[in-house]
Amino acid sequence: MSDIQKDKILILDFGSQYTQLIARRIREIGVFSELVPFDIDIDYIREFDPKGIILSGGPDTVTSTDSARVDSMVFELNIPILGICYGMQTMSVQLGGSAKSASKHEYGFASVNVKYSSSKLLGHIVKDNNKSLDVWMSHGIEVSKVPDGFDIVASSSNCAIAAIENSENNLFGLQFHPEVTHTAKGKEILERFVDICDCEKEWTVKNIVKNTISKLKEILGDKKVLLGLSGGVDSSVVAALLQKAVGDQLTCIFVDNGLLRLNEGDQVMETFSKNMGVKVIRANAQEKFYSALSEESDPEIKRKIIGRCFIEVFDDEAKKLKDINFLAQGTIYPDVIESAGSKTGKAKVIKSHHNVGGLPEDLNFELVEPLRELFKDEVREIGVELGIPYEMLFRHPFPGPGLGVRILGQIKEEYANILRLADHIFMEELYNENLYDEVNQAFAVFLPIKSVGVTGDERRYDFVISLRAVETIDFMTARWARLPYDFLDMVSNRIINEIPRVSRVVYDISGKPPATIEWE
Ligand code: XMP
Repeated sequence: MSDIQKDKILILDFGSQYTQLIARRIREIGVFSELVPFDIDIDYIREFDPKGIILSGGPDTVTSTDSARVDSMVFELNIPILGICYGMQTMSVQLGGSAKSASKHEYGFASVNVKYSSSKLLGHIVKDNNKSLDVWMSHGIEVSKVPDGFDIVASSSNCAIAAIENSENNLFGLQFHPEVTHTAKGKEILERFVDICDCEKEWTVKNIVKNTISKLKEILGDKKVLLGLSGGVDSSVVAALLQKAVGDQLTCIFVDNGLLRLNEGDQVMETFSKNMGVKVIRANAQEKFYSALSEESDPEIKRKIIGRCFIEVFDDEAKKLKDINFLAQGTIYPDVIESAGSKTGKAKVIKSHHNVGGLPEDLNFELVEPLRELFKDEVREIGVELGIPYEMLFRHPFPGPGLGVRILGQIKEEYANILRLADHIFMEELYNENLYDEVNQAFAVFLPIKSVGVTGDERRYDFVISLRAVETIDFMTARWARLPYDFLDMVSNRIINEIPRVSRVVYDISGKPPATIEWE
């Protein structure tokens, strides 16, 4: 089997919000790429043995004395290097050029003119009759003098030195961001760089699946492995990979906490147990969760109770099993590179992450994390390849505590049942009207307050359901979705008419900030 990580690109991260995008684009092109803090040890880089290096953008001001620098040995590795934005500026300064505060700051769209048609990086990208590229700029500093051996390749009206290269040594710099989709030919530029690095394009979904399965076989041998299956994307894909790799040696525990969506438990059992032949133990622990939560209304304490109950149930089930050696987890790459500080406190730190929501500590398993190197979109593509249903892979995010944070205050089984029905109607109509993929997260919330209503001649005094739908990129900020009034009207009517204990439906028009996406 080919080594799908033989040719790879290393990205040195100076902390730009776009750095993960660079890695994703390079991988989409078909080449493995890893992201490490800019000040990582040179020995790590040598051992990693990349075919090329990308220096990312970052928030530092290159003209300040304490701004971030890459180890100068990087420039002596004799491999192609591409500096993007801050990466270009530090490369220029470190190799003998200089930078200055830009006379006009440039944020957003710009048109750069490629004036050096024999440019190794950009020459093929621009057409003979049109030398301009629409790009995404974001900078307040610019290179003012290029180092010896470099040519100025492109400029814009506000930035005289927008792209540079030293074609003999394969050193390139772009003041704009090729990794963002706003840069029209950004992916072609990155692909050209990857070709200059002479990388073979082995990082494909089919190869990742083949490779992961074969690695799992090697690691697990004839040993048994346990997995907490939640029905979410990550654990579902891990289950499918393990099933393909070791079949019967896999046992999954699926904890039904009574706070799942309508029929969710049955769907998980149907998909994995019935259709894929995975050994799944369904722990019906609804009563345990409801009773542990019955007196509690504080959101954070509710979360803790749900987490603790999960571990207890998982632990009890795991202890009944014999001879388990490994515990599989759905940790993905962004969990591994979660933002924090590097050695100098300026970039990211590697942290370990436990997806199961806290591990049973006394079970003494060895960990296996088959998705550790993958971005979420890669995980989804692998899921498609493995035959996991589309709706399961492309569902909106669902919080670990489930409906527990969508039933305000005290949780009762009756409330959970009402909420499940309301949420189901909302989802069903979002799918029917092709609106589901137009929003990034949508759900219903149960409000334990009563309001007067009238059905026919009957006066009712029943609960309130709030609908929430948001548009967001990163879930850190969000805008309430402008769903059509007629659609909201229809959903509201269905909920009130079909669910006996609901007398009123409201729509949440709060943004984040100041509100959060979930109500608790
Ligand atoms: P908030 O409510 O903080 O939510 O704006 C942002 C995103 O995080 C999800 N969320 C959670 N996910 N456990 C989770 O696994 C939690 O306790 C939790 N709280 C919020 C939320 O659904 C949204 O996608």
